[in-house]
Amino acid sequence: DSQRRYSIAAIGADGIGPEVISAGIAVLRTLADALGGFELEFEEYDWSSETYKKTGQYIPDGGLDELRKHDAIFFGAVGAPDVPDHVSLWGLRLAICQTFQQYANVRPTRILLGTQSPLRSCGPRDLDWVIVRENSEGEYAGQGGRSHRGQAWEVATEVAVFTRHGIARLMRFGFEIARQRPRKLLTVVTKSNAQRNGMVLWDEVAADVAKDFPDVKVDKMLVDAMTARMVLDPSSLDTIVATNLHADILSDLAAALAGSIGIAPTSNLDPTRRNPSMFEPIHGSAFDITGKGIANPVATFWTAAEMLAWLGEEAAAAELMICVESVCEAGIVTADLGGTATTAEVTEAVMAEIRRRH
Ligand code: NAI
Ligand code: MG
Repeated sequence: DSQRRYSIAAIGADGIGPEVISAGIAVLRTLADALGGFELEFEEYDWSSETYKKTGQYIPDGGLDELRKHDAIFFGAVGAPDVPDHVSLWGLRLAICQTFQQYANVRPTRILLGTQSPLRSCGPRDLDWVIVRENSEGEYAGQGGRSHRGQAWEVATEVAVFTRHGIARLMRFGFEIARQRPRKLLTVVTKSNAQRNGMVLWDEVAADVAKDFPDVKVDKMLVDAMTARMVLDPSSLDTIVATNLHADILSDLAAALAGSIGIAPTSNLDPTRRNPSMFEPIHGSAFDITGKGIANPVATFWTAAEMLAWLGEEAAAAELMICVESVCEAGIVTADLGGTATTAEVTEAVMAEIRRRH
């Protein structure tokens, strides 16, 4: 038949991850049923810090090959109080991102209807950004080492790695995103005044790639000044491209300026589409609220919409965001957004809104 079918690997992992991923799956199923035309099949993988503590591995042997069979990966969060964060991050999330060459991390940020920015007089139209983060090298390349462990003269290096290939493919992707948006404005974040090798190459490649996008307006910002501009003049920004570390920090700031970390989505994309891409809320496993049923599922719903758009279901993605925003506007929001609703209540309300509209 003509039904479009997508196979999704779901990995809730740790803390509130499984809570928000099951909410996301419920909403996606409701959406697919209501809209018709496409079907989603979910396969759930119970890989987590519990698995790691039992077996010494986050991903079992052959697990990555399993994942490769799916069209997309829907991911919760990884991190447990009794496992060092660098072990959990590299064991699960980065193992997937790096194996699947998900070199572009895309983080849209805007102020959803019915939510508020902590910035005075910053409404929905004043903040509408897409941050494109380099996701495969840079400061998080994993290069470096430690010597003289435990000695007073112990040394550690964390080497940032920038390659022409890695920068060029990311810049090209950033320019393409900027070109698709109405303002066609790309801000290249750098720190080439102080970091005179990698960041200078970064700037040079950006200028090179810009020649192929004459319709995109480019500006360049030092990362420190960028933080101030994001706070003081949010409407002057649109698409932003930055290194792995810089964009990691800037996107948390962006999420906070948009109201809550509990609404922010992210996509780890392989723009070549040779490998499945991975979609996740930007928040972590939030031990402080795990099991209380109060995690905000909106970040995961927005993540689900980003996943649908990447799979080619743009209309369904837009429809999902309309339903999420009308639930926010109706004041059915969790505590992080100033409300009293539970995860389940927000999820039910979004499903009811989907059914009401179709
Ligand atoms: P976090 O994002 O888990 O929590 C920060 C604060 O935001 C907490 O007060 C938490 O309750 C709140 N929060 C987060 N998501 C929320 C939601 N959906 N609704 C309502 N409130 C929410 O960051 P934190 O505390 O730095 O890290 C906790 C663990 O998560 C660590 O092990 C860390 O390594 C891991 N982590 C994993 C990430 C991933 O898997 N991609 C990303 C960030 C952190
Ligand atoms: Mg982060």
